[in-house]
Amino acid sequence: MENINIGVIGAGFMGKAHVVGYSNTPKLFWPAPAMPVLKTVCDIVPEIAEDAKVRFGFEKSATDWRDVIADPEINAVSICTPNDSHAEIAIAALKAGKHVLCEKPLSSSLEDTMAMADAAREAAAKGVIHMTAYQYRRIPAIALAKRFIDEGKLGDILNVRCTYLQSWSADPSSPLSWRFQKDIAGAGTLGDIATHVTDIATYLAGDIDEVTGLLRTYIKERPVQEGGVDLLGTVKLDDNAKKAPVDVDDEVSFLVKFASGAIGSIEATRNAWGRNNHITIELHGTKGTVAFNYERLNELQVCFADDPDHFRGFKTVYTGPAHEHGDVTWNIPGMNIGYGELKTIEIFDFVKAITTGEQPSTNFEVALRVEQVTAAVARSAESGQWTKVAA
Ligand SMILES: NC(=O)c1ccc[n+]([C@@H]2O[C@H](COP(=O)([O-])OP(=O)(O)OC[C@H]3O[C@@H](n4cnc5c(N)ncnc54)[C@H](O)[C@@H]3O)[C@@H](O)[C@H]2O)c1
Repeated sequence: MENINIGVIGAGFMGKAHVVGYSNTPKLFWPAPAMPVLKTVCDIVPEIAEDAKVRFGFEKSATDWRDVIADPEINAVSICTPNDSHAEIAIAALKAGKHVLCEKPLSSSLEDTMAMADAAREAAAKGVIHMTAYQYRRIPAIALAKRFIDEGKLGDILNVRCTYLQSWSADPSSPLSWRFQKDIAGAGTLGDIATHVTDIATYLAGDIDEVTGLLRTYIKERPVQEGGVDLLGTVKLDDNAKKAPVDVDDEVSFLVKFASGAIGSIEATRNAWGRNNHITIELHGTKGTVAFNYERLNELQVCFADDPDHFRGFKTVYTGPAHEHGDVTWNIPGMNIGYGELKTIEIFDFVKAITTGEQPSTNFEVALRVEQVTAAVARSAESGQWTKVAA
């Protein structure tokens, strides 16, 4: 079996998630398409890099991503750094012929994302794989919803309602990490989490043509944090800490028109007390409805119009062995999967793409389309007008 030597760049929250995926790919998917080998972990903070090497079992650590890209032994890289660094790292990696799995959003500006898509197109012509980490469309329950749509069981799609609600930044004493700084993050909830549900919405219902949206920043300044790692609200700073302005949104709401004629809405916030990773999708068609909530990610609610009147209503399908990847995760219904298995399914798709040469479903072109929607929402929030998504 072929080995694929991996470099992981950025060893924070997502660096760990990618390592879980690489390590578990051959454990869940056997025979694996190839064996991922944890070669080098890179973090700009030397202690984090060294700690990650020991903890995750990498052969080497580095503090400069250029050393990872220059290493002829490395075949593929995961880019898990804050958003503003993705473009430079990804473009260099693609030019060097490394397969790239880049965290979302692809970058902190539409210009950078377009440059990344250009570099990906050129590299793809030489067999290089490019992929963005929109993992949520890979949830087996979402794959089942897609299957119902493709089989025509829901009829014509009329409406797609999506939310992504979290609570971790609702407390004003949560520090001003990189996620609240426009020059690093690019946007707030709009780029960070609305992008995930935009990806799922377009995966299920096709391209979005036009949007109208609102952005709000509720907490206008936050205490300044030491260090570059975003601890996602797990740290609180006291009232004496120096404060600095927040220049990204806390919340976004937008209406969408799909190219198919369907309509819908997308809302995202990180300030919703009581909502933790509350990703909901409800999709209504002429022949039925599907509804999903990530906090119960092994379930899909379905209702079919052609059930007899006295019997019609929602039923819950529990995903398991009979569904996407259920044969390789846990083979007893109800054992369920979580975030670790989901990131493993994503990494399996990346490794498989490298061995087959077929670009994954969340390639850079698809991510560019999502980020064109993001940019249109930002323009609409400024102008107050319905805004076309640039082709
Ligand atoms: N797919 C998802 O659901 C998901 C979830 C969380 C984060 N993300 C994305 O993953 C990326 C990283 O987010 P995170 O939550 O892991 O952040 P984090 O703050 O936990 O970790 C980022 C790490 O990158 C390091 N770093 C910063 N600049 C670097 C550089 N130039 N070279 C090497 N290392 C550098 C930091 O020291 C830190 O250890 C972001 O793009 C974020 O949007 C995606």
